[in-house]
Amino acid sequence: MPSNYSLPPFRIKMVEPIRLISSQERSQKMIEAGYNPFALLSEDVFIDLLTDSGTGAMSHFQWAALMMGDEAYAGSASYFRLERVVKEITGYGFVMPAHQGRGAEQVVIPQLVRHPGMVFISNMHFDTTRAHVELAGAHAVDTACPECLDLPHFHPFKGNFDLSKLEKAILDYGRENVAGIILTVTNNAVGGQPVSMENIKKVCEIAHRFQIKTIIDGARYAENAFFIQQREPGYQNRSIMEIVREMFDYADVFLMSAKKDGLVNIGGLIAIKEDRELFQKCQTYIVPMEGFPTYGGLAGRDMDALAVGLKEALDIDYLRYRIDEVRYLGDRLREAGIPIQYPTGGHAVFVDCGAMCPQIPYDEFPAVAVSNELYLEGGIRAVEIGSLLMGRDPETRKNRKSDMELMRLTIPRRTYTLQHLDYVAECLKKVYDRRQEIRGLEFTYEAPVLRHFTSRFRPKN
Ligand code: F0G
Repeated sequence: MPSNYSLPPFRIKMVEPIRLISSQERSQKMIEAGYNPFALLSEDVFIDLLTDSGTGAMSHFQWAALMMGDEAYAGSASYFRLERVVKEITGYGFVMPAHQGRGAEQVVIPQLVRHPGMVFISNMHFDTTRAHVELAGAHAVDTACPECLDLPHFHPFKGNFDLSKLEKAILDYGRENVAGIILTVTNNAVGGQPVSMENIKKVCEIAHRFQIKTIIDGARYAENAFFIQQREPGYQNRSIMEIVREMFDYADVFLMSAKKDGLVNIGGLIAIKEDRELFQKCQTYIVPMEGFPTYGGLAGRDMDALAVGLKEALDIDYLRYRIDEVRYLGDRLREAGIPIQYPTGGHAVFVDCGAMCPQIPYDEFPAVAVSNELYLEGGIRAVEIGSLLMGRDPETRKNRKSDMELMRLTIPRRTYTLQHLDYVAECLKKVYDRRQEIRGLEFTYEAPVLRHFTSRFRPKN
């Protein structure tokens, strides 16, 4: 291994067998799955890079903490252990668990929508966040910086907001119609790309000037803090904890899918800085949606595992290893000439399938076609972030065209070795060598909503 990648700061004491089924079996499984990787069974997948969400490995400290879970319905001691850690990290006054990120979204987002026709503005809404904005009767507006669309060229903070677009959107919609500004850190949809502290600070200054609430969608906030430490002038000598605290100081609300930087298999969080009225509304609303406010859909043991995982994810040795393993895969692909979103993001390598297979039109879903080839080649499962995910325009019923046709190779935390990632790179190189032969897909069944999960396809002739 080249020496410019950090070593894993752990050794392995429990393993889970995985198995590569034969090439003929994979072809058969692909047909049975209707050429949709979401329909493949886990046992038929060798290396699963569908998501980094809830797929990581817990430490022995977390497994030990599980045994301490207090399963009381109300006032569980596990809740108070979790609350203490979240308050220490965020500095916020109010904490509630939720069963996962979208659980936190469904509780908080409707409380911020005061009248019909409101909007949320984000660097980029994640799909469930967008869905909850729309379910609450509001619109989701994205104001990502233009650099994120320039895939091959380095920019340290491609996750940033475009500040002038943000201000313009506030003025165009009117500040009284903006329900909140959502900072997605890291910015998942554009490649797990970080948002700089300067950008976070300026976004929050603009929001405060217009008296708009700022919400950090911080599923991967620790990875974001690491990038700030590595890339942003003035932060090299600041600890990860200091960086994280500065970020939270600027904002008002924290929503988290704890399945990422909480290092747990299930869990979510709501933390509110000081708005007691908002907290009380959420406390009332969470009961019928997620559960009593001191468990929010989680078992006591889940809260204990999360309290430990949150601290582990802020450890600098862990973060260095984590970001490096993802960069390692990105570097192997770039060496082979495979186009990716560069620099490599925090949780995944995003392969530019639009550039790789220009013969496949957007509405024949190039990144799904490449993902399927990768499964056939090596039993590896990836996920499309492109026009299939975008769905159809609700009015014209036309396929929406995504700005980027990406295949996301998402790396679960502390789960695969660099040998596994070498194998992924080798398989993708073989797919790349035959890229001109790859055909697009057509629907045999198109699901009416969230079509990427359940639609079925066949290869185009
Ligand atoms: N926000 C962001 C930025 C996310 O990436 C996710 C989930 C959520 C919110 C929702 O959290 O899944 O716990 O309900 N992202 C996963 C992914 C599913 O694969 O990127 P959840």
